[in-house]
Amino acid sequence: MCGIVGYIGPKEAYPILIKGLKRLEYRGYDSAGVALLNGDLTILKKEGKVSDLEMHAEGKNKTGTVGIGHTRWATHGVPSDLNAHPHVSNSAQLAIIHNGIIENYASLKTELVKRGYTFKSDTDTEVLMNLIEDIKKEEEVDIEEALRIALNEVVGAYAIVVIDKANPDKIIAARKGSPLVIGIGDKEFYVASDASPIVEFTKEVVYLNDEEFAVLHRNGDMEIKDLGNITKTPYIQKLEMDLETIEKGGYDTFMLKEIYEQPKVIGDALRGRMNAKEGWIKLGGVSEFATRINNAERLIIGACGTSWHSGLIAEYVIEELARVPVEVEYASEFRYRNPIVTSKDVMIAISQSGETADTLAAIEIAKERQALIFGICNVIGSSISRVSHAGAYTHAGPEIGVASTKAFSTQVAILMLMALQLAQKKGSISASRLRQILYELEEIPKKIEEALTLNDEIERIAAKYFEAENFLYLGRGINFPVALEGALKLKEISYIHAEGYPAAEMKHGPIALIDENMPVLFIATNKSAHEKIVSNIQEVKARKGKVIAVINHADEVIEGLADDVIRVPETEELLSPLVSIVPLQLLSYHIALMRNCNVDQPRNLAKSVTVE
Ligand code: F6R
Repeated sequence: MCGIVGYIGPKEAYPILIKGLKRLEYRGYDSAGVALLNGDLTILKKEGKVSDLEMHAEGKNKTGTVGIGHTRWATHGVPSDLNAHPHVSNSAQLAIIHNGIIENYASLKTELVKRGYTFKSDTDTEVLMNLIEDIKKEEEVDIEEALRIALNEVVGAYAIVVIDKANPDKIIAARKGSPLVIGIGDKEFYVASDASPIVEFTKEVVYLNDEEFAVLHRNGDMEIKDLGNITKTPYIQKLEMDLETIEKGGYDTFMLKEIYEQPKVIGDALRGRMNAKEGWIKLGGVSEFATRINNAERLIIGACGTSWHSGLIAEYVIEELARVPVEVEYASEFRYRNPIVTSKDVMIAISQSGETADTLAAIEIAKERQALIFGICNVIGSSISRVSHAGAYTHAGPEIGVASTKAFSTQVAILMLMALQLAQKKGSISASRLRQILYELEEIPKKIEEALTLNDEIERIAAKYFEAENFLYLGRGINFPVALEGALKLKEISYIHAEGYPAAEMKHGPIALIDENMPVLFIATNKSAHEKIVSNIQEVKARKGKVIAVINHADEVIEGLADDVIRVPETEELLSPLVSIVPLQLLSYHIALMRNCNVDQPRNLAKSVTVE
């Protein structure tokens, strides 16, 4: 949430900051701003998108070889020009950008007000800025020491970058609980919330750790210290990201590009980790801990949103194949209970971004109680991947559309591999069944390709239903989480109210909603519950509901009943979510476009939810 970017070096900072903000805009997009040092401190900020900021900046002084930029997802204070970052200290000497929340900002503000400070915005960030200024003045210390002392006083999460008009040859960056990466160029530094603004300029990066701050000097020197003032040796890593993976590549939107990337990225996720012919699976992180995971009293899956849905699919698959009990928890709820977790449990934390605050907090609880943590993340080097004892990357590549698509399917693929590897190790699956599933898994990219050819047909279906006010998504067994995910996609990007339910639960309540205006989407690909699903479809039709059914080729019974059918290729039932989710992603996409919604940047959402 919130994107931050900074630059110091020989180049003009403004174009670098604007380009970086556009790449980070998926993290928040209610206002944007930059601060530049050019003998003076120039602040340009505006409510709206980065393009609004650019218009606002036209004709104004944008020079300066040191600067910071921010794109905001509002926490404290409405989206407005005043609440937009950067925020400036009362003396107009210092400027800050911030991602995160300062929880004790109210008490700090009260103290600062007593000391004569005034505030222009409603933000916690402006409080932090003035706290740093106050310490700098009162204690007569330099800017980095003032920042260090201030950060020892604040409670909360932050990634910040600060510049000082009196010290134009350095910028200072710090993090706790919100990501921050430093790119190292030739006598220049880039700082950003993720590597996307940096990759074009350098592949050498340092991921700052929690409670560390970096002082980046124009002469190329970099000092990293922790908040206890202990110097740290920077660990320089090579970025594996390519520029084309973060561009639209000819598609109109990132979401569509990412939906179409699914065959490729699932292939990437599986490559080198399994071989159907030879009957082996080797998920690095699992190999080392397979015995402990198989002997766990429970596997607790902790995740949020779409990642929670892939956890629900994993529950079916792991219990079916590896016969280890699984519980799937909303990380955002788990952390506010007093959950029973012991050293015999294993937590599987699933997160695209690897930065979700609630999932990190759930991990912390499970870790304190001695559970093994297995992280499944997409973003390499992310916080969750670093705090886990073991794990696997999904290798979906950068996911920029706010609504998750390819990250979901690669999570499901990895969890499938995990279940198979555990089952093989335990002996709970026969060699022939294992091969059968592995062969089917190898075929999945092709089957997704085939499902993607339905795009035009799905667009036609979307045209029939895009004005609906409500939608129900129903599925049985492993298709229930698919129904949840389909409904989430629709509500996120089209703002249509949509509910996912287990089909059998319909008669316990949701059936009351059904009339001729209610489209009901059935995911009806399971052979095991076919007759039951047919009965549910009949119940909807009897109440004049409109039925859209996702079926396998040649299902005459359902074709005879449904108003619209979407025929996806058949696969092994445990793998079917990987194929049946594709038309649901496309349906929500087309409906959202027909409703003139911004599919990549839906209102109120942000990609990486680093606040609680
Ligand atoms: C939905 C979506 C969110 C995320 C959720 C968890 O399309 O993107 O529901 O799935 O915020 O995010 P991660 O997976 O990054 O932990």
